[in-house]
Amino acid sequence: MADGRKSSGTCFPPVAISDTLPIMTRGCFVTGTDTGVGKTVVAAALAICLRQRGLNVGVMKPVETGVRERGSTLSDAEGLRAAGGAVDPVDVISPYRFAAPLAPLAAARQAGSAIEMDRILAAYERLAAGHALMVVEGVGGVMVPIGHHFNVRDLIARLGLPAVVVGRATLGGVNHALLTVEALRQRRIAILGIVLNHAAIPSEHSRTRPEASDTRQGDSTADLLKELSGVPVLGPLCHEPMLAQAREAGFGKVATEEAIRTLADLIMTDAP
Ligand SMILES: Nc1ncnc2c1ncn2[C@@H]1O[C@H](COP(=O)(O)OP(=O)(O)OP(=O)(O)O)[C@@H](O)[C@H]1O
Ligand SMILES: [Mg+2]
Repeated sequence: MADGRKSSGTCFPPVAISDTLPIMTRGCFVTGTDTGVGKTVVAAALAICLRQRGLNVGVMKPVETGVRERGSTLSDAEGLRAAGGAVDPVDVISPYRFAAPLAPLAAARQAGSAIEMDRILAAYERLAAGHALMVVEGVGGVMVPIGHHFNVRDLIARLGLPAVVVGRATLGGVNHALLTVEALRQRRIAILGIVLNHAAIPSEHSRTRPEASDTRQGDSTADLLKELSGVPVLGPLCHEPMLAQAREAGFGKVATEEAIRTLADLIMTDAP
């Protein structure tokens, strides 16, 4: 079939995705099994943890959708910028920003524009040149389309950063995490680890603390992924109510969790 999207078995034709950037930066690309799983929380907490170890950390959110012009909640890019203590301009940290809460390819189309890999790479190179370590947050999951010919997985491969997979500790977490690991392995992307998270508690409206069943699900998900994924499995992170009240303070609390400190150790020992 002429359309590579249908014939290749993946969503997109293999357009210039095998090259990695010449810049050798340490750090990680924080991806996830889905949207809303806690990528920003993990990336921000990690940036804080690394900064507390005296490292000059750069942050990036290459594409963000659903960005509100006004409002009390900081966008992902602004939240990461604050957590990383970065002075870099938001439009370099996040070169593509769209109001529509859609997948990047759709949001860009709706805005009458297109997302170019080269512009993202140029912003990344500029940031990486000024920082010892980069923490980059993806958008949605690994197969989310960004530009006409590339998705999140392609971007990770081009940046040459190892991936961190944030996933749900609750039911369904095993399947989604294993699918994501499989997709990254297909492209030979190194995986630093899976970080399990309790982003939202089931029936959160009726209670604020996790129930025993959530804890059991979290432990069971972690145990199975340790057995089956072949990569380090960290967490589950606790459900942190502070995140809903004062997000930056919440990032700081999550930064003290063992899973984040272990992730920081893994990044610091990862060969440049
Ligand atoms: N451990 C946690 N405890 C409490 N709330 C959490 C936790 N992790 C995430 N959250 C909350 O869940 C929501 C989604 O988290 P977050 O924004 O980090 O997800 P995301 O994967 O970055 O989403 P997106 O795909 O939109 O970038 C946020 O409101 C966040 O504060
Ligand atoms: Mg986010």
